[in-house]
Amino acid sequence: MREKIEALMAEVAALSCNTEQEIEQARVRLLGKKGEITALFDEFRTVAPELKREFGQKLNVLKNTAAAKIEELKEAASESQAGGAAAFDYTMPGDPVQLGSRHPVSIAREEIVNIFRKFGYDVAEGPEVEDDWHVFEALNFPPEHPAREMQDTFFINDSDNPVLLRTHTSSVQVRAMEKMPLPIRIVCPGRVFRNEAISARAHCIFHQVEGLYIDENVTFADMKQAILLFAREMFGAQSQIRMRPSYFPFTEPSAEIDVSCNICGGKGCNICKGTGWLEIMGCGMVDPNVLEASGIDSKKYSGFAFGMGVERIAMLKWQVRDLRNYFENDLRFLKEFETSL
Ligand code: PHE
Repeated sequence: MREKIEALMAEVAALSCNTEQEIEQARVRLLGKKGEITALFDEFRTVAPELKREFGQKLNVLKNTAAAKIEELKEAASESQAGGAAAFDYTMPGDPVQLGSRHPVSIAREEIVNIFRKFGYDVAEGPEVEDDWHVFEALNFPPEHPAREMQDTFFINDSDNPVLLRTHTSSVQVRAMEKMPLPIRIVCPGRVFRNEAISARAHCIFHQVEGLYIDENVTFADMKQAILLFAREMFGAQSQIRMRPSYFPFTEPSAEIDVSCNICGGKGCNICKGTGWLEIMGCGMVDPNVLEASGIDSKKYSGFAFGMGVERIAMLKWQVRDLRNYFENDLRFLKEFETSL
C-alpha cells in the first residue's frame, strides 16, 4: 500500500494535460468512483489497525494533492484558451494611425518661398558649414571689420581660413552669384547659427529666407515693389510697408522693412508695442564690391537682396510670443498648427 501511495503521488506531481478533455480523463482515472485513489480508500479498510493512522494521513494528502492539481490544470487550460482565441478579435476596429502635423516653421518657410516662386524666383540651397569667404569676405566684410561682430559666429576651427557655421543664408547667394548665369532671381531658405543667449526673442539656431535679384537695370523701386507684394501676400491685402535706413556691409543703400501691424491694422496694440508697425526684414541694393567679388560686372548689372527670419515671420503671423516654443516640440503647441496644413 505504501508503494502504491508513493507511486500515485509521483504520478500526480508529474501530471500534465492541456485540454479539458484530458484533464477530465485524469480526474476520473484518479478520483472517480472507480478511480485509483478511490480504490485505495477501499483497500484502506483492510489495513492493520496499527498502520491505519499513518496510511490514513498519507491517503488524505494524496487525495487533496490530486484534487488541487486537477483544479490547477483546469485553470491553466481555461486561461490559455482565453489568451489564444479571445485575445485576437479580428472584428475589432483598428487603432487609428496618429498622424503628426507639419512644424510651424516648415509651414511658414514654405509659405514665404511659395510667394516668391509665384514672382518667378528659384530656390537655392547651400551648406550650413561654411568658409569665411562665403559668409563674410565675399560679402564685403574685410578681416577685422567691426560688422563681423554684428553676427556672433560659431567657429569650428581656429585657423587663418576658418570653418564656421553660417550666420546667414547670404552665403548661398554668393555661391549662386559665382555659379549661376545671369539674370539671377533666387530665394535661399535655410538654417542659420548665431552664438546668442536663448531667450523669448533670440535663439542660437533659427531659419532665414534670403532673396537675391540681379539683372540689368534693377532699381530700388523694384525692390520696394517686390517686398510690398510679398507683405500683402503674407500678412493680408491691406498691408503697408515702410522703410527705415539701415546698414549692412553687402548692400548700399540698405533698409529695414516694417509691415503695418496685422493685429490692430496699424492703430497700435501690444503686439506692435503701440507703434502700428512690425519689423520683418533687412534689404538693400547689392554693393558693387559684392558683385565684383563674385565676378559680376557691376557697371552692367545691379541687384537687390533681402533677408528675413522665418521664426519671426511665423511669430507675427500666428502671434507666438516666445521663440522657444518652436524648439521644444511640445505637442500641445505643435498641434495648434494642424489645420494650417
Ligand atoms: N543677411 C542679413 C542678416 O542675416 C539680412 C539681409 C540680407 C540684409 C540681404 C540685407 C540684404 O541679417
